[in-house]
Amino acid sequence: MVDSHGRTVRDLRISITDRCNFRCVYCMEPDVRFAPQESLLTVDEIVRIAAVAESLGVRKVRLTGGEPTLHPALTDIIAGIAAETRVEIALITNASLLSRKSLQAWKNVGLARLTISIDSLRSDRFARVTRSAWSPAKVLEGVQMSLDEGLTPVKLNAVLIRGFNDDEAVELAALARTFGVEMRFIEYMPLDSAHAWDSTKWVSAAETRAAIERVFPLVACSDDDPSSTARTLRFADLPVGSPARVGLIAPVSTPFCGACSRLRITADGKVRPCLFSTTEWDLRSSLRRCATDDELADFLIDATWTKQPGHGITSPEFVQPERPMSAIGG
Ligand code: 5AD
Ligand code: SF4
Repeated sequence: MVDSHGRTVRDLRISITDRCNFRCVYCMEPDVRFAPQESLLTVDEIVRIAAVAESLGVRKVRLTGGEPTLHPALTDIIAGIAAETRVEIALITNASLLSRKSLQAWKNVGLARLTISIDSLRSDRFARVTRSAWSPAKVLEGVQMSLDEGLTPVKLNAVLIRGFNDDEAVELAALARTFGVEMRFIEYMPLDSAHAWDSTKWVSAAETRAAIERVFPLVACSDDDPSSTARTLRFADLPVGSPARVGLIAPVSTPFCGACSRLRITADGKVRPCLFSTTEWDLRSSLRRCATDDELADFLIDATWTKQPGHGITSPEFVQPERPMSAIGG
């Protein structure tokens, strides 16, 4: 699948639910309205989309949310995709509901790896950012369990927001060293349902890097995949091959749209060519009208063709999409 700007789609993100047990300040308002159950994609529909996408060149499927582990049939979804395709299957989770048993079950049916969000290591802050009663200690237990179960490489994600948790870059980066994982910092994007984002609240990747380097000098890694959203850095005092790394994802300060290889499917079955798309393509209707695989493939090809060249967050004409991240899937 190639778009009109010559980019090839290899990475499909499917939001399997818009529900979440957190209400992160940069994502969902406490009174967010969820899509009606019948509008959400079924297990079979999700598996079919993954299979058609693979026939068009997709090599990775990331299951996102909301919180995908809230989906009662997550194991069936992973198993279905693994049975029908050979794509790499990854999961992005807030780690609040992980157990050894579920991790083993997902791995046994074909899950390759996990990305876990952690925005603060201080209990009071964590509660404020996620507006939940969970604790960072619980999330870190989930990180360790995921490593123990071999769902590697485990990656951690944090969003720094000025005045909330922007003073924690060093402590969060230290997690990479403690667990031997990549700790990624994502610049806060205007995708919050409160539309509270403004240009004073996001923290740039450069600022984050400088804060970390005051304690841990970093060296840029040269083996970055050009379509990857993250620029990775290693710790200067650790061996070159160490899995402990820092990733900087800078959609606001350094848009990586030019190398974008992603397509997104929302929990209610809409194709979003970009995180910031203001137009969506109704794939669910086609699925439910009994479209053939070829018709679904054509639909995805057409949607891909419309990928916009970039998001223009910092341009005065920028319009924030109606949907928050929880309904799009990171
Ligand atoms: N800006 C940046 N990252 C965000 N995420 C959710 N909302 C935003 C936002 N407004 C991140 C979450 C998670 C991933 C799916 O997307 O922290 O790690
Ligand atoms: Fe839930 Fe993730 Fe949104 Fe937080 S960022 S509210 S964990 S979907």
